[in-house]
Order: sequence, then C-alpha cells, then structure tokens
Amino acid sequence: MKEKSKIVDDYLRKIELIKKHNNHYYIKDKPIITDSDYDNLKKEVITLEKKYLFLEKFGSVSEIIGAPPSNKFAKVKHLSPMLSLSNAFDDKDMEIFIKKINNFLNNDESDIEFISEPKIDGISATLIYEKGKLAKGLSRGDGEVGEDILENLKTIEEIPKTINSNTVPSLLEVRCEIYIGKKDFLNFKEQFANPRNAAGGSLRQKNPEDTKKIPLKYFAYGFGAMDPMKFSKQSEFLESIKDFGFSINPLIKVVKGEKQIEEQHKKIETLRSSLDYDIDGLVFKVNDLKTQKRLGNTSNSPRWAIAYKFSAEKAITKIKSIVIQVGRTGAITPVAKVEPVTVGGVVVSNATLHNEDEIERKDIRIGDTVKIQRAGDVIPQVISVELSKRKKDSKKYLFPKRCLCGAETKKEFSKSTKKLDAVRRCTKGYECIFTAKEKLKHIVSKEAFNIDGLGKKVIEQFWDLNLIRKPSDIFKLDYNKIKKLEGWGELSINNLKSAIIKSKTISLDKFIYSIGIRHIGQENAKILASFFGSIKEFTNLFTLKKRKKILNDLEELDGIGETQIKSIYNFFSNEINNTIVKDLSDKLNISNYSIKNVNGKFSNKKLMFTGGFKNMSRSEAKMIAEKNGGKVVGSISKNLDYLVVGETKPTKRKVEQAKQLKIKIILEKDWNKILNS
Ligand code: IVH
Repeated sequence: MKEKSKIVDDYLRKIELIKKHNNHYYIKDKPIITDSDYDNLKKEVITLEKKYLFLEKFGSVSEIIGAPPSNKFAKVKHLSPMLSLSNAFDDKDMEIFIKKINNFLNNDESDIEFISEPKIDGISATLIYEKGKLAKGLSRGDGEVGEDILENLKTIEEIPKTINSNTVPSLLEVRCEIYIGKKDFLNFKEQFANPRNAAGGSLRQKNPEDTKKIPLKYFAYGFGAMDPMKFSKQSEFLESIKDFGFSINPLIKVVKGEKQIEEQHKKIETLRSSLDYDIDGLVFKVNDLKTQKRLGNTSNSPRWAIAYKFSAEKAITKIKSIVIQVGRTGAITPVAKVEPVTVGGVVVSNATLHNEDEIERKDIRIGDTVKIQRAGDVIPQVISVELSKRKKDSKKYLFPKRCLCGAETKKEFSKSTKKLDAVRRCTKGYECIFTAKEKLKHIVSKEAFNIDGLGKKVIEQFWDLNLIRKPSDIFKLDYNKIKKLEGWGELSINNLKSAIIKSKTISLDKFIYSIGIRHIGQENAKILASFFGSIKEFTNLFTLKKRKKILNDLEELDGIGETQIKSIYNFFSNEINNTIVKDLSDKLNISNYSIKNVNGKFSNKKLMFTGGFKNMSRSEAKMIAEKNGGKVVGSISKNLDYLVVGETKPTKRKVEQAKQLKIKIILEKDWNKILNS
C-alpha cells in the first residue's frame, strides 16, 4: 500500500511540475526547460497513467495538451495600443475618479453617463475585420506589440469570421476577453492552476487543433482602430456589434452618479459566484465617445475608464513577528509575518504594515490577532487589531531606528505637507546592500530594461553568488558559473543572454527611469529625456558646475517641480551614483530621445499657460497643445513662443514679463478660435 501512495505522490508531483511549466510557457511566455524536457515529463506522466489504472481518478493529462508550442508566434504591432486599467477599491476611489474627470473637463456640476461592464478575468485579444472579414487576430503582448494568434482564435465558434451587414465599418477592430467557462474548466483542472491559465494555454498552442480541445468562449468589450468611425457612445457600439453577431456580456448597464455606480457594483458582486465565468470587478467607462477622446490617456491607462474591483477578501490571523524590508529608495517597510491563512484562495503568510506611523497609530504588536485583507493583485495588508484578544503582557512594538545595513535612518520633512514623512529611510544609497539589491530589481523590471529571465528572484540568487552587485555587472555575467547552477539549462541561459543583449539598446527616457532617481517616474523621465535629448547632454549632470546650470534650466519644464529638482541634485551629488550611472551607460547603446514630430498647429513651438479657461482644464489644454506638436513649459524665457492667457486669474507678472520679451500672447478667445480653425 505504501508503494501505491508513493506512486500517487510521484504522479501528483509531476502534474504540479507540468502546471508550473505550463504557466512559464503559456502565460509568462518564458519557458525554463527545453521542449524535449517538457515532452519527457509528459511522457513519464502518460506512462504512469497507462501502467497504474488507479491514477485514473486524478484525470488524464495525456489527451488534452498538445506539444508545447514553439513560442514563435509572429509579432505584430497593434494599430492602437492595448492599454490597461487603473483600479478603484472603494466608493472613495470612485469619487476621486469622477472628480478627476470633472476637473479635466472643467465641469462644475457633472452628470456624466458611465457604462458599467463586468471585468472578465480572462485573456485579452483583438480581432481585426477588413471589409467585414476577420483578417487578423492578435494577443495583447506588451500592449504595443502583440502576437498573431489568428488561427487559434478562429477555432472559437462564437467569434464571427465574416460580418454580414452593410453598416459594418470597412476597418473594425474589436477588443475582447477570451475565457473558459467555470464548468468546462473542471475537466482541465489537473493541468492548469485556474481557468485564466487554461485559456492562456489553449490560445498559445502551436496547432489550432489543440486549441480546439479546450472549449473557449469570449466577450467583446471595446474597439481599437475603426474607419469610418460610426458610433457616438460605447453603449451604441456594443449594441451594434451584438447585431453584427458578437458575444456581449448581458450584465452591462448605463449608470449615472455615485449612487447608481454603488448599486450596480453591489448587485453584480452578489451575482458573481453564480456566473459561469470569473469576474474580478466592474469596468466603468465614460459612455460618450467624444468625451472619452477629450479625456485621452495617461502613459498606461485611459482617463475615461476604471476597474472597480470587488471588495477585498478578509481573514483573521496572528502576527508571529515583524520584520523590516528595505525598498529601492531606502524606504523601510515593516512586514508582519503571520500564521498562514487562506484569503481569497491564496495562502498568505506576510502582510504589510506600511510604515512606522501606521504601526504607531494602530498600536500593532507582535502576538496580536489581526484582520488582514487581500485586494486584487496588491500586497496583503493588516487592517486592524482585535484588541479583545490581546494578551496582558504584550509589549508595544519598538520600531528599529537603524536600517538592516546598520546605517542611520531618517524621516524627511515634506515641503508639500509641511510634516515629517511617515516613511523612514536608510541614509545610504547604493552603499546599503539592501537598497542596492532593490535598485537592481527595479533596473531589470518591465518598465525599465525589461530583461526576460532576470526577475526579482534571479537577482536575489545572482546577488548571493556575487554575480551581480551593481547595474553594469548585468552586462558582464559569468555564464560559466551560471551554467553550473540548478535550474539553469542551455535554453534558459541562451534566452537570458539574448534578452540581455537586446536590452543594451535602450531609449534615453527608459534609461533615466531605470537609474532610479527618487521622484522620477516614467512620465518625468520622458520630460527629462526630451529636455536633454541625448545621453551626452544628460551626463553633464556629473559635473558640479554644469549641474547647477542644468538644474536652473530644469525649472522651466512643466511637470518638473522643486521636489524633482532637489532629488536630481541629491542623486548626482553622490559620487557613487555618478560612477554607477557612468559605468552602466558605457555598456549601452542609448538612443537619443526623439520627440515625435507631430505636425499640427503648434509644431516645434513652446507654449506656456497662465490663468484658467472656461471650456477646459489646464491638463486638457496641455494635452491639446502636445497633440498639435507643441511643447508646454513652466516658466517664461526668451525661447518661449506663446503665452496663452486664460480669463480666470492669470498671473499679471507673467503677462508683463512676456510683453517685455516680445512673446506672442494668445488670449482665451483666440485660443478657442485657433483650436476650432
Ligand atoms: S476595457 C483601454 N472592458 O481588463 C481600456 N477591459 O486591465 C481597456 N477586461 O486588458 C480595457 N473585461 O483584458 C475593458 N469589460 C472590459 C473588460 C476588460 C476584461 C480586461 C482586458 C484589459 C484588462 C485591463
């Protein structure tokens, strides 16, 4: 009998391995074993199934999954990027979302109409119809470039292959979410961790015949490119494509105002478990398409839509200990090690305590029974202490005053809040090994160098083995050493090598973002890159004299404020930082930042705004200027082309200055005329 349980254990272990590799292969698109190793693993499982019939009750993997696809789907650039959504977790977040929209549109009172759609937890894809014929089908990829998975998408019966309607636009791109029904998934739960994983795996099969074996469904939720544009509302678009034969989610509703938003959110949340597909929230979109266009996008997500997630799953557990983590900016984050507890299907053993002030405010102590919550993909957090369960001898938690590296920590004074920061930070930068390790993780991340195969865990591993200690080490890795490590086969090493070579060519804005200057995120990095233009100009920051002049000039940039300038100053005043940035840039091919030469009413012109406008917010005016090829700056100089003066409270001094410098002044009424011309 012992023998039998051993066989079952071995079988289940192999199935877990298959699941793990399916995930690497199909979802992450980064296999960590060779195709033949994967095939062998599968063969072993099939042999076991054939030999020991008692394994039957665990289901069979032999039939369904095809050979792993060569992950070489053709890469295709999207006609328009596939963005992601920002999240809201409660009514407050929704209130802020609506307020931001109104501010942007300069609406005093608003009655904006939203469309509420379930957020399907599947895999996104886009279908391109030319003259009513399905011509292309792509995966999302990184949002800019997707993969050609047309043949696999075609196997989904409900997806129209031709649209028989004489009202269909000659170019129509339909965005949709592909999923596997919860019931259907029960037949595949041995091979995939969850329905989403199964849908992803199925879509990435090389042979469409294998895709067919997993019954996929879909809901269409939006459009990409369209010519001619025929719709004025999202609801109208959805109704029309329903007539064209697309599957549209039946739980869609047009709503107005926070009350209706809340009601709809509650209503669908109660239905959630009865649906045959996974949803993790509702998407609220501004219904009017012209307003959507006015609102536009931030770097990754539209301003006109948000994913309002369902309420966080909560659980009660006990704090075993409190440890300290150091972030890439030196921020000291306390983390509670808790007794493992399942929250929303995931076992949680760590929960964040945010910062020193939060511990103080909630008086959180080791040994406390606490309520924790996990919302969406955010880190689980401790939300409250069950004081009634606290032991009498419990002691207040004393927050460590030193970093893990032993250096002093400090709370900075924030000029904007006029208070001490809630976060305590290590006073060392790269000299603190904990901070340095986190900086490296940032450098290889998706938004920075985006090095496939060099994730957080690998950085930890390579750090411990002394293979990487500073950014430039990434480009002189000792592959002979890596070869000897467990889990590193020829395939994964070759993949890593080519990912690193690929990452050597990087744009200036990404480089600036990567080096991790505090307060310089992706948007600010772009502003700086357009200011410097080339890495040569950027490296002038190394020299004290030039640095001072540059920082002076930076004040002119719209979007770069005192905080950013101070932070750049601090960063480059540190010689170690300078050496690190220099060593890194020497290894790279950093492309100049080319401002897309947009042809428009303000091509190559510098504009500055003062005063408020009646019809639009400053943010919208800025967006319009940029869309028309202009560059918006934050201070007056002789290089300025136009000072645009709004009627509401313009700064007199600025107008005077502009007049003195003979800069052309555009009044609000002229601005409106120019835009309408
Ligand atoms: S709209 C630009 N609507 O969620 C707006 N997305 O986090 C793009 N999704 O990639 C998304 N249901 O795969 C939208 N009703 C819905 C959706 C939905 C699921 C997915 C989609 C997208 C992701 C964004």
